[in-house]
Amino acid sequence: MTVRKSTATCIALAATAALAAVAPRPAFAQAPTASRLALTPPMGWNSWNKFGCDVSEQLIRETADAMVSTGMRDAGYQYVNVDDCWHGQRDSLGFIQPDAGRFPSGIKALADYVHARGLKLGIYSDAGSKTCGGKPGSRGYERQDALTYAKWGVDYLKYDWCNTEALSAQGAYLTMHDALADTGRPIVLSICEWGTNKPWEWGPSVGQLWRTTGDIGASFAADIDRGNWKQLSVLSIIDLQPPLRRYAGPGHWNDPDMLEVGNGLTPSEDRAHFSMWSMLAAPLIAGNDLRSMPPGVATVLTNRDVIAVNQDSLGVEGFRYSTKDSVEVWFKPLAHGDWAMTILNRANAPRHPAFDWKNEAVNDSLSGRATAFATTRYSVRDLWSKRDLGTTQRTLTSELPGHDVLMVRLRKL
Ligand code: GLA
Repeated sequence: MTVRKSTATCIALAATAALAAVAPRPAFAQAPTASRLALTPPMGWNSWNKFGCDVSEQLIRETADAMVSTGMRDAGYQYVNVDDCWHGQRDSLGFIQPDAGRFPSGIKALADYVHARGLKLGIYSDAGSKTCGGKPGSRGYERQDALTYAKWGVDYLKYDWCNTEALSAQGAYLTMHDALADTGRPIVLSICEWGTNKPWEWGPSVGQLWRTTGDIGASFAADIDRGNWKQLSVLSIIDLQPPLRRYAGPGHWNDPDMLEVGNGLTPSEDRAHFSMWSMLAAPLIAGNDLRSMPPGVATVLTNRDVIAVNQDSLGVEGFRYSTKDSVEVWFKPLAHGDWAMTILNRANAPRHPAFDWKNEAVNDSLSGRATAFATTRYSVRDLWSKRDLGTTQRTLTSELPGHDVLMVRLRKL
């Protein structure tokens, strides 16, 4: 960074600040481009769930390559996101530098590498003085950091909430939203304040996605005790989503945290976790080691029929329709009159649920969609076995192993 450039930057910043003083932007007005950044839930990968602070340019390059070679890019995954701990220190002018040992070529070269593979690069910072991993946060440096990310060619910012003391969450995220918007580069803003300050109420005009809960752990049914905090299980996170579905939609999504598929769950659990995140219209951000992924895990992550439910253009989150004996039935309205339906077995033991369509009717006031299966017939396709299961005239029976799902797509006949 040369002194000349940074002087120019300072003048630009001062000019922007002066303009802001005379013409305050309306609260929560959304930049027109921002709302188009994530018309369907973002799909990608993030380093945190598997690698924690152990990130490097080599890992990110190899992951970008794996995203292509495993077919994930072609299945829709786009963002390769570096989470916490990529940072070095700020230079004498306050510009953030990457850790030179871990990212010797710098972030711009990394972005070029990722872009050359048809993918996008994401980075991480924090609204407070330090990140959760103790690295420099963006507090007081928001505009400088946003300009730096834009100059590097970054496409996505996950913005965390550690060490924020008395900051207002809404204000702090709006500050970064404005700083990103003013760079002129479209950069997705992922609001990561764990649902503490009801981000669903103000997030839709500030970022494209907001975390709804604390951190996920690689556990299906039991939270993981970390002493003074808990990592939430897949089921705990699912249970926190129903009241929030009305806040999500194209361009602004509830984010129930990144995927743990491939991080030690059973094959049934991987399938159930991925199906439910798709039913919830959740961002699909893989969190496993893509370079050494067993074929079974790749099959889950690249199931295009399930991904199509997640990426459906209607953008309506699914809802829990019924619960009985640890078996839940979820519905999600899809474009063109289709429905996705998932039967989730929360129990460890197998279950044999039967769904007699003629006695069932869905009525979703949020989307205005309603169907009485006694009078309207649909074809039924199993999205995991890829088999046609007949029509809704026949009772749907299933043998569900513990922690597994049956996921079907209904098409009107
Ligand atoms: C918080 C976030 C996680 C991860 C870590 C990094 O806990 O919620 O997703 O980004 O910080 O330190």
